[in-house]
Amino acid sequence: MVGFILTATPVFCQISPGKLSKAHASMEGISSCTSCHELGAKISEAKCLDCHKQLKARITLSKGYHVSKEIKGKECITCHSEHHGVNFDLNRFDEKKFNHTLTGYELKGAHKKVENCAKCHFEDHIADIKLKQNKSTFLGLDPKCISCHEDYHQKTLANDCAKCHNFEQFKPASLFKHSSTDFPLTGSHANVDCIKCHKTDIKNGKNSNSLLIFLSKIVLLAIKIHMVANLVSIVHHVIM
Ligand code: HEC
Ligand code: HEC
Ligand code: HEC
Ligand code: HEC
Ligand code: HEC
Ligand code: HEC
Ligand code: HEC
Repeated sequence: MVGFILTATPVFCQISPGKLSKAHASMEGISSCTSCHELGAKISEAKCLDCHKQLKARITLSKGYHVSKEIKGKECITCHSEHHGVNFDLNRFDEKKFNHTLTGYELKGAHKKVENCAKCHFEDHIADIKLKQNKSTFLGLDPKCISCHEDYHQKTLANDCAKCHNFEQFKPASLFKHSSTDFPLTGSHANVDCIKCHKTDIKNGKNSNSLLIFLSKIVLLAIKIHMVANLVSIVHHVIM
């Protein structure tokens, strides 16, 4: 039995069925067969994932497309074959028909209308330094709005854009309700123009469009004191 393995291994290694794809070309040659193959011909999923660490990390977290129902139970080679020459595309799939919901992140509203995947999937939106250099990767995006959208409010409002904005359009801020701030607009305030209490400003050299900047806490405190003062004077008036 031992004798069989010793002779079987070199025999296997001599008969590569064809050139490897461009992405794996550096593994050409008999010293690298076992980067992907177990002794004998079998492909080792674990070996693929030893190299593809970022994908492995996603799978370990049970996140992303490679843990979706479309992939579960299938061998890697069902979709990623090899030895078909340098120009063979290891990643044959139709981007136009790709069901993004399988990644665990549904494209909604304006995101559904983005035709070019690369508008989201490109290096500027990727934090991982290794992945940044991989021009064809779909890994590495962070679903937080701020990872792709500029902070229009220049840190004057919460980072969590989704608290106030949906995926359709930024204006109006359809999820924002003044009634859930510390300063609900009641009575005569309900009809006051936003701009009366919130000044428009230009910040950080952004002068192409004016930004709606919300007042500092100190100014807001002043407004509140002014209101309390008004209230006190009204109460005073009523009592006297
Ligand atoms: C980058 C990974 C990789 C490397 C390196 C690699 N192979 Fe493969 N090999 C594959 C994959 C993937 C398949 C499966 C192709 C398929 O079935 O579509 C395969 C299939 C084979 C098969 C056919 C096995 C079968 O069950 O039909 C042989 C033989 C083979 N490889 C030999 C070699 C030899 C010899 C080397 C080294 C010179 C080598 N391979 C290097 C990935 C690799
Ligand atoms: C020794 C490391 C190594 C091993 C082992 C390895 N790969 Fe790769 N693979 C790479 C590198 C490097 C690239 C180029 C892109 C990158 O930097 O990730 C790549 C690219 C790919 C791509 C993307 C190709 C593209 O055009 O975007 C797929 C799919 C892939 N490998 C699948 C596999 C599978 C399946 C196996 C196991 C049979 C495997 N790899 C084994 C290093 C490896
Ligand atoms: C509006 C932005 C946006 C567009 C457009 C977009 N994606 Fe994504 N995609 C994301 C985000 C964000 C994630 C990460 C989701 C997560 O981490 O849960 C992601 C994840 C993925 C993943 C999963 C990566 C993993 O971890 O397994 C794949 C695959 C993918 N996208 C493919 C595509 C393809 C193909 C297209 C074009 C048809 C596309 N995406 C268009 C934002 C986008
Ligand atoms: C049902 C088909 C299918 C199976 C099975 C499958 N993949 Fe993939 N794989 C894809 C598609 C489609 C993409 C392109 C979208 C993406 O990057 O997630 C991809 C992308 C990749 C990439 C490039 C990731 C990136 O975006 O940088 C690697 C590496 C990879 N697969 C390895 C594997 C390994 C290892 C296995 C087995 C554990 C496997 N795949 C199983 C379809 C498949
Ligand atoms: C991975 C990158 C990415 C992430 C994360 C992301 N977006 Fe987007 N978003 C885009 C791209 C790209 C567009 C299209 C812009 C274009 O076509 O110029 C877009 C468009 C929009 C639009 C349409 C208005 C406009 O500026 O075109 C809204 C509204 C929007 N996103 C809201 C959100 C919200 C809310 C979140 C977080 C919950 C979010 N986005 C997360 C990339 C992203
Ligand atoms: C507390 C609520 C709140 C949060 C959090 C918030 N916004 Fe806004 N945003 C608003 C309000 C209110 C407006 C003004 C809408 C209007 O003019 O009707 C606005 C306006 C905008 C506009 C201008 C739309 C236009 O065309 O004039 C953009 C772009 C925008 N927000 C992006 C963001 C981004 C990106 C984030 C996260 C970094 C974010 N917002 C966080 C409330 C919020
Ligand atoms: C009468 C004065 C007044 C008017 C009018 C007013 N606001 Fe405010 N607004 C305030 C005060 C005071 C606060 C601070 C509440 C707090 O500290 O939570 C505030 C807070 C906010 C915040 C910040 C919420 C947060 O989570 O930090 C936003 C966004 C906002 N207002 C948007 C608007 C918009 C849009 C309009 C017009 C529809 C408007 N406001 C009209 C006084 C006003």
